[in-house]
Amino acid sequence: MSQRKPYVGGNWKMNTNRTTSADLARGVVDGLRDAAHVDVAVFPPFPYLLAVRAILRDRSSSIKLGAQDVYPKPDGAFTGEVSTEMLKDCGVEVVLCGHSERRHVLGESDAHVNAKLRAVLDAGLEAILCVGETLDERNNGHTDPVNQRQVRGGLADVTGDQISRVTIAYEPVWAIGTGKTATPADAQAVHANIRKLIAGMFGQDAAERIRIMYGGSVKPSNAADLFLSPDIDGGLIGGASLKVGEFVPIVRAAASKYTTP
Ligand code: PGA
Repeated sequence: MSQRKPYVGGNWKMNTNRTTSADLARGVVDGLRDAAHVDVAVFPPFPYLLAVRAILRDRSSSIKLGAQDVYPKPDGAFTGEVSTEMLKDCGVEVVLCGHSERRHVLGESDAHVNAKLRAVLDAGLEAILCVGETLDERNNGHTDPVNQRQVRGGLADVTGDQISRVTIAYEPVWAIGTGKTATPADAQAVHANIRKLIAGMFGQDAAERIRIMYGGSVKPSNAADLFLSPDIDGGLIGGASLKVGEFVPIVRAAASKYTTP
């Protein structure tokens, strides 16, 4: 049993439309109305943030509104980008930083991810720092060095106070959207090493408190086994977060791990 409250995020990526994002939000809120002992966030595409916020508010839901990305500058001539203040204005509470699709498809560096994460924390928001190795990196024995580099780089200059608003999501790139999931033992080993690294950077107390989610083809059929691992504190869910009938059981599987401290 864990002392850390499990946390599950639904990353909708570039999916849904005006109708289906609202249907999905209503379905998730209604499906999790009685769910306790778990934090939940949904990450709709930018154009649907306000509509999803209205649904969460109308139903007095504790589900957090999340954004999939942000630009680190406060305002100005950055065509197409969105600032932390704009996100706050739309009711966003938590922002993904360094998702593997942004690193590998959009070419974001550790330094850029760090700038985003610090902007998010400086704005008083929560951040989820995503890290993970590619299949080549894993096959070449570089899993831990890559994840350590991304954690160190992503958290550079983060203060001891700010780390309490950070969650880490370990998402092996080869497991995202592929149907391949890390075994609970493989994921646990990486999570434990990340927690050790956090202890070295921020102290033992911060390491024991920080939540480390697993992401990559999490489904209702594998969620419970993954979440049983001591250092896996929930999940960041892509494909399965688009279906109420899959996301809700995944959240419930995470919730069942928690015991009130
Ligand atoms: P997936 O995506 O669950 O579709 O593998 C996870 C993620 O990218 O956050």
